[in-house]
Amino acid sequence: MRVVSGIQPTGKPHLGNYLGAIVNYVKLQDEAQAAGGECFIFLADLHAISQPHDPAELTQNTREMVATLVACGVDPSKTILFNQAQVPAHAEMQWLLNGTARMGWLNRMTQWKDKAGKNREGQSVALFTYPVLQAADVLLYQATHVPVGEDQKQHLELARDIAQKFNTDFCPPNEDGSDAPLFTLPEPYIPPAAARIMSLRDGTSKMSKSDPSEMSRISLTDDADTVMKKVKKAKTDPEPLPSEEAGLEGRAEAKNLVGIYSALTGQSVGQVLAEHGGQGFGAFKPALGEVLVETLRPINERFMELKDDLEALDAILARGAAQAREHGLPTLDATYKALGLVRG
Ligand code: TYM
Repeated sequence: MRVVSGIQPTGKPHLGNYLGAIVNYVKLQDEAQAAGGECFIFLADLHAISQPHDPAELTQNTREMVATLVACGVDPSKTILFNQAQVPAHAEMQWLLNGTARMGWLNRMTQWKDKAGKNREGQSVALFTYPVLQAADVLLYQATHVPVGEDQKQHLELARDIAQKFNTDFCPPNEDGSDAPLFTLPEPYIPPAAARIMSLRDGTSKMSKSDPSEMSRISLTDDADTVMKKVKKAKTDPEPLPSEEAGLEGRAEAKNLVGIYSALTGQSVGQVLAEHGGQGFGAFKPALGEVLVETLRPINERFMELKDDLEALDAILARGAAQAREHGLPTLDATYKALGLVRG
């Protein structure tokens, strides 16, 4: 079992990142350990430069993201925690895979279409080739499980397509006729209840670091007052909660808040509605706020302890990067070789 996933150190991580991905980093790091496998979690800082950014902010966000991940339970003694920039094999592997990825595949990526909008010509080349780097990230380590939110599913399908085409084009069968693929096809690992946490201001758009409104998201480092205020101001409709799941259809905001409550408490949506059905939001919102505050309190405390010890945070990344470099080497070498590139 090889668990691999990444998170961009842009802005503050939010509840969508937590419920969609980070919770599963922690769960799968333990499962990988129990199965004698490995877990790799990295900060996708090379992805972060695909859009306009402030270099000083990127440096600060990178360290804060390490502190946040550790505060959430990613344990550097169980997980290889690092940033891409310290493991050149990611960028090398991307170049090697650029020969296999097709323009048409990248053109179909919804994230590219959303982010580029009508101004494709004005985008960086990195934004377009972003998914090839993401494929390199997971294929380099022969990932089997990739914990992500729903929005990354298409990128992982692309990684599988690239792996499959490379295996077909450059990996001849063994002498006995059996297949000798170089790359493992990675499987996305998406949480059923929290695959897509929506904005608190608009139940039809994803909770996102890039939303200009702070009120649209709960940041993992928000204090209790801020959390309560954001939940209280969250957009809702005037109807009370239904007592059955079907009653949430067409009520995007209500569905989102109930989904968050369900993911945080581990109760099914049906159980949450059995308990809270008939309540108006005046009663449900404080209950949700409290569950959120209780979840975030220990994360906040730990984050505050860790965030200023830059030496310790940098040491975690340096140690993780050294391990990642070693683990990535055999596949990187094999990829150069499969392509017929001479390297002394
Ligand atoms: P990023 O940094 O946007 O998000 C990190 C993780 O959080 C998940 N996520 C969400 N889940 C549920 N609801 C939401 N509203 C929500 N918003 C974000 C994302 O799905 C992701 O799992 N391209 C990736 C980073 C990356 C990566 C990789 C991931 C680079 N290389 C290799 C997996 C494997 C990204 O920008 O995630």
